[in-house]
Amino acid sequence: MSRIALPDFPWDSLAEVKATAQAHPGGVVDLSIGTPVDPVPEGIRAALASVSDIPGYPTTHGIPALREAARAALSRRHGVEDIEPDAVLPTIGSKEAVAWLPRLLGFGDGDLVVIPELAYPTYEVGALLAGASILRSDGLTALGPQRPAMLWLNSPSNPTGKVLPVEHLRKVVEWARERDVVVVSDECYLALGWETDPLSVLHPDVCDGRMDGLIAVHSLSKSANLASYRAGFLTGDPVLIKRLLEVRKHAGMIVPRPVQEAMVAALTDDEALTAQRERYARRRLALWKALQDNGFRIDHSEAGLYLWATRDEDASATVGWLAERGILVAPGTFYGPKGGKHVRVALTATDERVDAAVERLTAPR
Ligand SMILES: Cc1ncc(COP(=O)(O)O)c(C=O)c1O
Repeated sequence: MSRIALPDFPWDSLAEVKATAQAHPGGVVDLSIGTPVDPVPEGIRAALASVSDIPGYPTTHGIPALREAARAALSRRHGVEDIEPDAVLPTIGSKEAVAWLPRLLGFGDGDLVVIPELAYPTYEVGALLAGASILRSDGLTALGPQRPAMLWLNSPSNPTGKVLPVEHLRKVVEWARERDVVVVSDECYLALGWETDPLSVLHPDVCDGRMDGLIAVHSLSKSANLASYRAGFLTGDPVLIKRLLEVRKHAGMIVPRPVQEAMVAALTDDEALTAQRERYARRRLALWKALQDNGFRIDHSEAGLYLWATRDEDASATVGWLAERGILVAPGTFYGPKGGKHVRVALTATDERVDAAVERLTAPR
């Protein structure tokens, strides 16, 4: 079997600017990777610990309470109704699901996977792992007569923070249904709307309560600070979810039982989610203002965990300019060729580090 040619891991290329930022006397403010820094809510930790003495294997489908908690959370938090009780499938964080979905759905050589112009890099990796090819496109007209096997949506977007309006989502779903294309919607930032309320592809206003051909990908990493637990789930079309369950059972892709219990707690605790949203909202406004006052323009960014910022110059120049101030961000080029003039600024740093960044941006040099 030939070796699969994957792109270079983008973060490795940041080593040099990272060293520059780390040399700042006040220490680095790392706003490059969107990794949560706030505490794991106490109730979630207690739930994890409460089932630490179960010696047997967990089930791939997860405990019924987890499926029910996911269904109820989507209904309560996001107005998603009509999810069938069994059509929830826990995943070991959402990244592995993103990376293996095309393969697990049976797509491969000769199949086309459509991903957003600016996209989380794992969509491309997943297509390549399956042996499929990708097309970057945000619109349907660019596809012409081509019939892709699968199309990714990501609203709110990483990296741009853009939210797709209901009309756009409806159009994609309708177009895909006519052509028997699977639509997979990565909704890991759905709970982080700031100026806009993002809609799930499974919301009745989008899909009219029909789940066929639709899969939503959810993650508890950002909404519940559970990135280290590896906790996500898939839901939507019961037929597709069942097919995925069968393959994942064979492949041993099982969420650990204590993490399943923690997920139930996270999906039930709306107060913790509200508190986390407030933290990010404060950091977002502080960084937005400081960047804007320094000649940056912030595009999109109406939701999600990032500011999509530009000084209308090459992204590497902006990354270097910020690194000299001890602030590390990701160049937009990590997310696609059209990101060449933007940087992605994550809101995932402590209040103390965000304040340090604001001070450095504000201080005269
Ligand atoms: C758009 C998007 N999807 C999926 C993931 C994966 O998240 P996790 O594997 O922690 O659930 C990320 C992580 O940053 C992301 O930005």
